[in-house]
Amino acid sequence: MTRSPRVIGAEHIADARQNGRQLLEILPGDIVTQLARESAESAHITLVDGPLEKPAIPRTDGAITLQRSLYRRNPKWIAPKPSQGSSPGTISRLALIGAGGVGLNIAHLVANRGIANEVALIDVAPGVAEAAALDLNHASGITRSGTHVQGSADLSLIADAQVVVITAGRPRSPGMSRADLMTINRRIIQSISESVRTHAPDSIVIVVTNPLDEMTMTVLEGTGFPYHRVLGMAGTLDSSRFRWSLAQKAGVPVSDVEAVTLGSHGGEMVPIVSTALIRNKPVTTVLSEDEIRDCVETTVHGGESVVALRKTGSATLAPAHAVCELLDAIRGARPGALPVSVMLNGSYGIHDVVLGVPCVLDSSGLREIIELSITDEEQVLLEAAAESVRNRLDQAANTNI
Ligand code: 2OP
Repeated sequence: MTRSPRVIGAEHIADARQNGRQLLEILPGDIVTQLARESAESAHITLVDGPLEKPAIPRTDGAITLQRSLYRRNPKWIAPKPSQGSSPGTISRLALIGAGGVGLNIAHLVANRGIANEVALIDVAPGVAEAAALDLNHASGITRSGTHVQGSADLSLIADAQVVVITAGRPRSPGMSRADLMTINRRIIQSISESVRTHAPDSIVIVVTNPLDEMTMTVLEGTGFPYHRVLGMAGTLDSSRFRWSLAQKAGVPVSDVEAVTLGSHGGEMVPIVSTALIRNKPVTTVLSEDEIRDCVETTVHGGESVVALRKTGSATLAPAHAVCELLDAIRGARPGALPVSVMLNGSYGIHDVVLGVPCVLDSSGLREIIELSITDEEQVLLEAAAESVRNRLDQAANTNI
């Protein structure tokens, strides 16, 4: 079917701007008015010669081979063991989209720990990423960090990134749920996904923006990347919160606690009690039912508690560490499984939705999903979480937000 060329006017730019897009595809034959060019420039929208390559979103049919190699049953949870002298790789180039509290703390940790050779920090607010990059580079005379940090407001800086971490978007205010951010953040993430697809087509993407599972699904669709290269960070954060609250309650160091949180990064998250251990003993033999229930509640409402105290913005430090845990797994510095939000196609009996489950990562992203032996009750909670994420996404698609 032949396409009639379009006259791209200022109204197209206004429309793109309203939808939070940063790129506008210009197809062969299209005429772009001078006013449109000027409006695009002032709105920081890049006009890109198309057609842009739009890889098909791998759905169940197209991804069977990939799935077979990725998803296999494993009866037991293998607790991660500390690294035993293996020599981890270094991420060649890490792009951080969003230089707010989480992005900046990730950059700081990454530079200090030598997790990546190069960090590209991007933020829409002019000067913010550049200033942070300069500030971190200034610190290297003391830290002797070899990580080179660059900053820009221009998303093309993500080019050649091995891993892209997306933290951009609105954080919660007191009284808001993560799901309340769906409308605003979905537009931002759709637009960022286009840039990631264009500038870093071979990258692994880690999504941090809320609502987490829904935004991870949005990146999967927007980039068209295969499942194993789109990961959502939430489980490492929620598991850390769960371990901390169990340790507090039992009065033991947090290093004596093993526990994991699965499911969604929202009210339906599922701290897994049946596999939790305190000093290698089942948590149910150390704490009472009420104490465990308290720990579960503290975990589920962990993010909210920080928001309520800060009043503006949400947690930054624990989420940054939780992202670094994923980066360490990707570069081979953190063996074992860890909870990550990924697309499920049958694992835990759940299909076609992103949810937090234990995963083994490597330099190509998701290598394997581990199936824990959880209780029937926990399984029901996981399925309920999947259903809630699916419903919220359907609702967003139906209202076209
Ligand atoms: C949290 O739970 C930011 O969602 C994040 O703190």
